[in-house]
Amino acid sequence: MDPSQFFDRHAGEYHGTDAGMRAVHELSAQHIEEGIAGRVLSVGGMWPRHSQEVISNLDLTVADVSAEMLRPHREAGLSTALDDARALSFSDASFDHVVLPLVLHHITDQSWIAARREVHKVLAEVRRVLKRAGRVWISELSVSRAIYWTEALAAPFTRLVLGFADIPLVVMHSAEFYRSALRRESFGDLHSYYPDPPGGSWHDPIRPIIGLPWLKVPRAFYPVRPLVLSATAAR
Ligand SMILES: C[S@@+](CC[C@H](N)C(=O)[O-])C[C@H]1O[C@@H](n2cnc3c(N)ncnc32)[C@H](O)[C@@H]1O
Repeated sequence: MDPSQFFDRHAGEYHGTDAGMRAVHELSAQHIEEGIAGRVLSVGGMWPRHSQEVISNLDLTVADVSAEMLRPHREAGLSTALDDARALSFSDASFDHVVLPLVLHHITDQSWIAARREVHKVLAEVRRVLKRAGRVWISELSVSRAIYWTEALAAPFTRLVLGFADIPLVVMHSAEFYRSALRRESFGDLHSYYPDPPGGSWHDPIRPIIGLPWLKVPRAFYPVRPLVLSATAAR
């Protein structure tokens, strides 16, 4: 199953639908934007709720494997690249910051084990394009260890069910997995930020699955915790 075709098909729906995560996205954007400057690469589209004023002061490139997901950014005048996160077309040591906004859980090669391997590939590629002491920003939906291992056991069944709707497998990793992957790929100075908005309620509706925009569930039934991890490329 080709994720670029999936996202090409669903780009209009994705950009036109609020998944119910507005407050989380606002906090994440604020946190990322307080830390980034200079030449910035955002891989897997832009971070949601970004500030026009902040990005106009950056030398920003947006990369994505889907031409349709890139379209609004290209039309907004941003520099774009049709690239896979695992094989970026940029030279070594060319960015001050790389942002991975809600992309890593989609790079799975259709298996839980492969998904872990692919995260390592992306981080190695990010480290290659980062300048010395450059920083990576991972905005993700993390899960507890118990959910992570349940996901591993259920992955073949989940892949089968999603396959009926032509939706590729997604794998939400635990915060511990991301931290250990960053360390193994020679990143240091790790920082974790949890964008938990005050006043949220367990029954706030969210749309958890791209490709099924009619499916809304109370937040409590979707056991993920948004997380922004950042780390410095050590050489
Ligand atoms: C859930 S969307 C996130 C879009 C945007 N960053 C946001 O947070 O609203 C995931 C994005 O990752 C892109 N993507 C999936 N696999 C990718 C890959 N291997 N390399 C680059 N981008 C990828 C998809 O095309 C899609 O634009």
